[in-house]
Amino acid sequence: MRARLSSGAVVFAAMLLTACSKPTALPAPPPDAGTKAILATLPAAYQNADLENGQSNLALCKACHTLNQGAQAAAGPNLWGVFGRQAGSQPGFDYSDGMKRLNVVWDADRLNTWITRPSAMVPGTRMSYIGMESAKDRIDLIAALKVATTAK
Ligand code: HEC
Repeated sequence: MRARLSSGAVVFAAMLLTACSKPTALPAPPPDAGTKAILATLPAAYQNADLENGQSNLALCKACHTLNQGAQAAAGPNLWGVFGRQAGSQPGFDYSDGMKRLNVVWDADRLNTWITRPSAMVPGTRMSYIGMESAKDRIDLIAALKVATTAK
C-alpha cells in the first residue's frame, strides 16, 4: 500500500518547518563611546570584533573566572584588569608552577595564544580548558574580555 500525504498533512508540515526556522537576528547596536575608546587601545585585528559573539563565548570562561573589579577568584583567578597584568600575579591564587614561571605581561596577542591551547603555552597548567579553535571566535572573545575587564 502506498501512503499518500493529504494536502492537510503537507500544510501542517510546512507550518512546523516555518515555526522551527530561526527568526533573522537583528543587527547589533553599534558600541557606545566608552566601549569604542576601550577597543581603540587594542591592536587593529581586534578593533572591529563581533562583541556579541565574544560575549556569548565568554560564558565558557565565566564558568571558572569572575570578571568584575574586586570579585573573588573562583576555580580560576579574577580577570579584572588582566590586560597589562603580569601572568600568575593575583595575590592568594594558587597558580601552577608553570604559570608562576611564565613571566609575560598579558596583552591581546598573548591572551590569544593562551586560549588557543592553554596546555601548549603553560605545560602542566591548572586551567583545564582545551582551547578555542576558531581564530575569529578568539578575536571576538578577547575584544569582549577587554571591554568586560576595563574601567570605562
Ligand atoms: C575549567 C576552569 C577554567 C576555564 C573554563 C577557563 N579558565 Fe582560565 N584559568 C583557570 C585556572 C585554574 C587558571 C590558573 C592556571 C594556572 O595556574 O596554571 C586560569 C588562568 C587564566 C589566565 C591567567 C590569569 C593570570 O592571573 O595570570 C587567564 C588570562 C585565563 N585563565 C583566561 C581564560 C579565558 C579567556 C577563558 C575562556 C576562554 C578561560 N580562562 C577559561 C581556569 C579556567
